[in-house]
Amino acid sequence: MNTICLPATTHAIREAALLIQSGEIVAFPTETVYGLGADTFNPDAIAKIFNAKQRPQDNPLIVHIADPCDISHLCYMEHTAKTLIEFFFPGPLTLVMRKKDIIPDIITAGLDSVAIRMPSHPIAHAFIKTTGVPIAAPSANRSGKPSPTTAAHVITDLSGRIPMVLDGGECIIGIESTVLDVRVNPPVILRPGGVTKESLDAVVGSVRLSPGIMNPLEGGIPLPSPGMRHEHYTPNGTLTLFRGSRLNVFKAIKTEYDKTVSMGYASAIFAFTPDIRLFGDRLVFSMGNQDAPQETAKKLYTLLRSMDEMGISCIYSTIPNLHDIGMGVVNRLIRAARFNIIDTGEEVS
Ligand code: TXA
Ligand code: MG
Repeated sequence: MNTICLPATTHAIREAALLIQSGEIVAFPTETVYGLGADTFNPDAIAKIFNAKQRPQDNPLIVHIADPCDISHLCYMEHTAKTLIEFFFPGPLTLVMRKKDIIPDIITAGLDSVAIRMPSHPIAHAFIKTTGVPIAAPSANRSGKPSPTTAAHVITDLSGRIPMVLDGGECIIGIESTVLDVRVNPPVILRPGGVTKESLDAVVGSVRLSPGIMNPLEGGIPLPSPGMRHEHYTPNGTLTLFRGSRLNVFKAIKTEYDKTVSMGYASAIFAFTPDIRLFGDRLVFSMGNQDAPQETAKKLYTLLRSMDEMGISCIYSTIPNLHDIGMGVVNRLIRAARFNIIDTGEEVS
């Protein structure tokens, strides 16, 4: 299949909508990451998404809408959901609610809940509205890889597997939406993302963090979200994270880096801009500034993808701050590292 990538003009959006109406799939930009969309009510089209991404069938999709009025058609809204929709839609928040029968099972992987989001990106909005249907869409990457934040990332992963990419430039947020289960009280964050825990707390009281977000799930705990079962965001090389006092972390990273380089492995370090000089002439990439987690979020997936392009085998990184969108960044890094974290201790050794 030939994949066309078009700047998202009004004409291109109309073409994309026609493809959706004929049962095809199209990649489109949102404020978080690029999505790979299909008509929610067409199970054959949805099956093409799973096939193109090679996504496990047991991982449900988010349904994207252009108008909050469409929500009551798709699921049952509790009081808290209504409040959250008023405050955060459109935007990087996905709400898990009790589904109505109209939602095909292939979207929810047989669950009785459905995840709903209304993107704030004007191109996403225009695209969904023009199709006239809710658009089911996961991130537009090969399953397991970092999500795409540019049309070029989508092409790298899916060229020849999908008919069209709408190019809307770089996504402003850079990591995915926050997934919040509002069927329970207090609501539970299943995936931290674009809307911070702090801002959710301010609107609905304290929300909880699901187990499995910052640590591997322990045996015996039921899986809070099907997505947690699978590997995500992983580069081809091995990513190792270091926590502890600054001095211990820097010393440990230098030691590990020097060891793998001397063994002949291409290696790299992720560090905050002011710390880069501490690593001398080693190969270091900037994660932005420690105090600006939104900057780190925006560049994270490009950084992980560039490691594959450069054939880097060993990547070493500090763990950024947890505040605001930093929680989402840390969650993605921990998963990209397959929970491979070295604790160097708080004491200066
Ligand atoms: O920002 C985003 O959320 C992007 C853009 C394209 O909207 N989409 C995205 O979709 O990240 P995806 O499929 O890559 O991630 C959706 C996550 C998965 O972890 C999935 O398991 C979870 O949401 N999810 C979907 N439906 C669910 C449900 N009914 N219950 C629990 N988790 C659900
Ligand atoms: Mg994804």
